Amino acid sequence: MKYRRLGMWGLQLSEIGLGSWLVFDSGDQRLSDTLHRTAYENGINFFDTANVYGRGNTEVMVGRSLRAFRRETYVLATKVFWAFQRDWPFPGANDRGLSRKHIFEQCHASLKRLGVDYIDLYQCHRFDPNAPLIETCRIMSDLIAQGKILYWGVSEWNAQQITEAVAICDDHGWQRPASNQPLHNMLERHWEAEVFPTCRRLGLGIVTFSPLAEGLLTGKYSQGVPKGSRAADENLGQFIKPRMTQENLARLQKLGALAAGLGAPMSNLALAWSLHRPGVTSVITGASKPQQIIENVKAANLVLDEAISERISMILGG
Ligand SMILES: NC(=O)c1ccc[n+]([C@@H]2O[C@H](COP(=O)([O-])OP(=O)(O)OC[C@H]3O[C@@H](n4cnc5c(N)ncnc54)[C@H](OP(=O)(O)O)[C@@H]3O)[C@@H](O)[C@H]2O)c1
Repeated sequence: MKYRRLGMWGLQLSEIGLGSWLVFDSGDQRLSDTLHRTAYENGINFFDTANVYGRGNTEVMVGRSLRAFRRETYVLATKVFWAFQRDWPFPGANDRGLSRKHIFEQCHASLKRLGVDYIDLYQCHRFDPNAPLIETCRIMSDLIAQGKILYWGVSEWNAQQITEAVAICDDHGWQRPASNQPLHNMLERHWEAEVFPTCRRLGLGIVTFSPLAEGLLTGKYSQGVPKGSRAADENLGQFIKPRMTQENLARLQKLGALAAGLGAPMSNLALAWSLHRPGVTSVITGASKPQQIIENVKAANLVLDEAISERISMILGG
């Protein structure tokens, strides 16, 4: 495993990260322990979760799994924004968003659920048009000063929102956001044009999510939807299904042939390609089986030369 600096910051993340979205909704603590241990033993030090996953239960499970390891050996990231607690799905007026009150309350709740003294990377899960940006920047700065979080980041923010947040922090001497977590993979590249260069210019590390397009980029759906896969599950499959367009399936076929020619799994090709995008620090993968993690970490060793990169560009059309 190789490690990269989070943008301009000193924090070192494994090139492959592990997330906990959807996989632990079943509440299977043993599965969480096994997957986190497999990841850790294969060099992954970057673990991503969110307060909203499993309505808080996932943070509890991830925290329990990581307790097996020395705190200073891993980087723990979580997020705040979405409502999920009391009276779901009709939360109180302050039960979501990026106000000082909600961030303050959720940071303490996350610390408790995770069972840790501090969060390494605390991320705004989305932008909140109903909270002044200065209020969000200020509370993040306060949480850093209080030692409850070390770095803060954003997810799915656009270039203007990121630029404004950095400017506010600079004006007030507050710590800038250190990272951006966008959706990004071979099939979904809409943030590349503006957001990636903005992150690079302002020193934010890019930690991409769903780098395998929820499993599509492993080639496992080439003959239809396999039993036990994410797309086969009525609830878990709701996000992946719209991605199964004819255009994407045609691209996947060509990528599969290219990967086979290289003697590498398509998943490795997809992750290695992501890691070659300028500014990307780490790709946050998901896994439902230890074997998937063992396969995915090998992507960090796959070198894509110019000829292969060119062929991939032709297939992806850009
Ligand atoms: N910021 C945000 O808004 C946001 C949104 C979504 C996700 N995330 C973060 O990103 C993380 C990863 O997202 P993701 O789960 O969509 O990532 P992904 O890596 O694109 O997809 C993971 C899924 O693909 C399948 N898979 C992975 N490796 C495989 C392999 N080698 N062979 C066959 N199948 C394989 C597994 O599904 P099955 O085995 O079940 O088919 C696995 O659960 C999340 O856990 C979360 O931390 C953040």
